[in-house]
Amino acid sequence: MSKTMLFSPTTLRSVTFDNRIVVSPMGQYSADAEGFATDWHLMHLGHLAASGAGLVFTEATAVEPRGRVSGKCLGIWSDDHVEGLRNIVDFCRRHGGAKLGMQLAHSGRKGSVTVPWEKQVGMQDGEGGWLMASPSAVAYPGRPMPEALDEAGLAQVREAFRDAAIRADAAGFDIIEIHNAHGYLLHSFLTPFANARTDSYGGSPENRMRFPLSVFEAVRAVWPERKPLGVRISATDWAEGGWTPEESVVFARELERRGCDYICASSGGSTDKQKIPVGPSYQVPFAEQIRREVGIPTMAVGLITQPQQAEDILAYGQADFVALGRGMLYNPRWPWHAAAHFGDEVYFPPQYERSHPSMRAGDFLKPFRERQAVGS
Ligand SMILES: Cc1cc2nc3c(=O)[nH]c(=O)nc-3n(C[C@H](O)[C@H](O)[C@H](O)COP(=O)(O)O)c2cc1C
Repeated sequence: MSKTMLFSPTTLRSVTFDNRIVVSPMGQYSADAEGFATDWHLMHLGHLAASGAGLVFTEATAVEPRGRVSGKCLGIWSDDHVEGLRNIVDFCRRHGGAKLGMQLAHSGRKGSVTVPWEKQVGMQDGEGGWLMASPSAVAYPGRPMPEALDEAGLAQVREAFRDAAIRADAAGFDIIEIHNAHGYLLHSFLTPFANARTDSYGGSPENRMRFPLSVFEAVRAVWPERKPLGVRISATDWAEGGWTPEESVVFARELERRGCDYICASSGGSTDKQKIPVGPSYQVPFAEQIRREVGIPTMAVGLITQPQQAEDILAYGQADFVALGRGMLYNPRWPWHAAAHFGDEVYFPPQYERSHPSMRAGDFLKPFRERQAVGS
């Protein structure tokens, strides 16, 4: 029996997570030029799978080549991508305790950039970049002009998400998260800052939700019934005239009706006019509001760094999972330290058990599980 919510198991559909700690999706800009995973992904995801987190996500993984953020982003747009991803999943399962999630993504009008450590500037089509797809021919400030998707283009993107989900299943992932946040393609249908369409995909909030909802339905239709499917949203654009938390509640309700298993509440990314009050737990109120008003499980993310902070978010019913991004990169053993702090149990590879504070002195024969319960 765990002592905390943080380390209590939970189940979505037929998948049980050992605890509520999630490694947030994080772009690594380390795939090869065709979107294939490299040794970096094996190392990055492999060590995080052994971190004690209940769930580890891949980075935003592109369903089409033009849906990459940079030319070095991970892809799943062809059957050829499956083998490398399956190797990583198998490797993580052999050596780690985490469930494995894939974030499916399309960058839309925010793709075609250089990697962040080269300043992340937009590249023009033919000059290292490519023609981006968007709801409308409206450029993200300072970036190249995208092309508006017509009916055939919309169908193509929808099919690309669907086919990618089939491949993610073939690669062995336990869960998919659709990336509907941060100003990328699906979010850009929701926000008036990017969507100027006059057809049934633009105008009213209902129309703007139509395409992302149809993508969700296409993925849910092929993703196995027993496996969970969640959606990451930007709950607000943080700017006058943009997407709002109230619209997010409506969107979450529509997703829930279509079989969505959780909402990850992130925010921002669609405009340079955003004013974000960044601080500890700053996005948690969105997860809380959606959970309360829609009755769907939520995942909180954004500057969650302290074990007690994470525990309180769960214990006060603000969210069902806590996702950590930068905190896990900086301290990949965060779940171990949090468990030791609370005297709770967490996955340790047997090879590393002797690093636990309770093992540093004396009696090595006492079972490891009993030792963890002592805390540090
Ligand atoms: C290096 C890096 C890459 C990221 N890539 C993605 C991504 O691929 N998909 C996504 O939804 N969010 C991405 N994010 C955002 C994180 O998932 C997370 O929401 C954000 O960093 C806030 O959480 P934190 O304060 O715990 O880092 C990225 C963040 C970082 C730092």
